[in-house]
Amino acid sequence: MIIAVDGPTASGKGTISKALAEHFGLPHLDTGLLYRAVGRQVFLDGGDPDNAGDALAAVTFPDSLLADASLRSEVAGGMASQVSVHPAVRQALFERQRAFADQDGGAVLDGRDIGTVIAPDADVKLFVTASVEARADRRYAEMKGRGEDVRLEVIAQDLRQRDERDRNRAEAPLVAAPDAYVLDTSTLGKEEAIAAAIDAVRQALGT
Ligand code: DC
Repeated sequence: MIIAVDGPTASGKGTISKALAEHFGLPHLDTGLLYRAVGRQVFLDGGDPDNAGDALAAVTFPDSLLADASLRSEVAGGMASQVSVHPAVRQALFERQRAFADQDGGAVLDGRDIGTVIAPDADVKLFVTASVEARADRRYAEMKGRGEDVRLEVIAQDLRQRDERDRNRAEAPLVAAPDAYVLDTSTLGKEEAIAAAIDAVRQALGT
């Protein structure tokens, strides 16, 4: 069984995907991490994330980079969004994601284009979304919790900019697949959102 979970930054899709993977006993791939690793590798190489050649050269990043805590930062997320615009980068990361989806027993993948491009054949597709305000509040609390010095307005502005780039790029833009179940988590707590997602999967499977 393949479960595709897509949605914008800080919508709760990561938390929901991990919980679904655990609940249904499936392996999970956070595909955003692959784009983050490419962005980070471009930086380490001294390249420009907006340059298609520099970004493509970075897709051969070492697997050890995926465990690097710096990939979780807002800066890494912004660079990931920049490199993800290049079709050659998306193509280079396609096989790795598809192979993960095709493993025996299935998998849960989360990202931006899982239900539309990587696994249009997924058994269940969820599109997890939330208002910019709710997402900015969550990100703010998370970052404050890590002791970072941040301003809510700056986070909200950054989210809007990333949404804009992810939604309007020519290749594989962030959009709900026509057959996706849309889950708005704006007013839901973590446990409520997870319960709603499990329900949605059960309904989609008819169980
Ligand atoms: O999910 P995330 O915040 O870790 O993703 C970081 C960036 O990577 C996101 O802004 C766009 C890009 N991305 C993508 O284009 N396609 C995916 N399947 C996953 C992420």
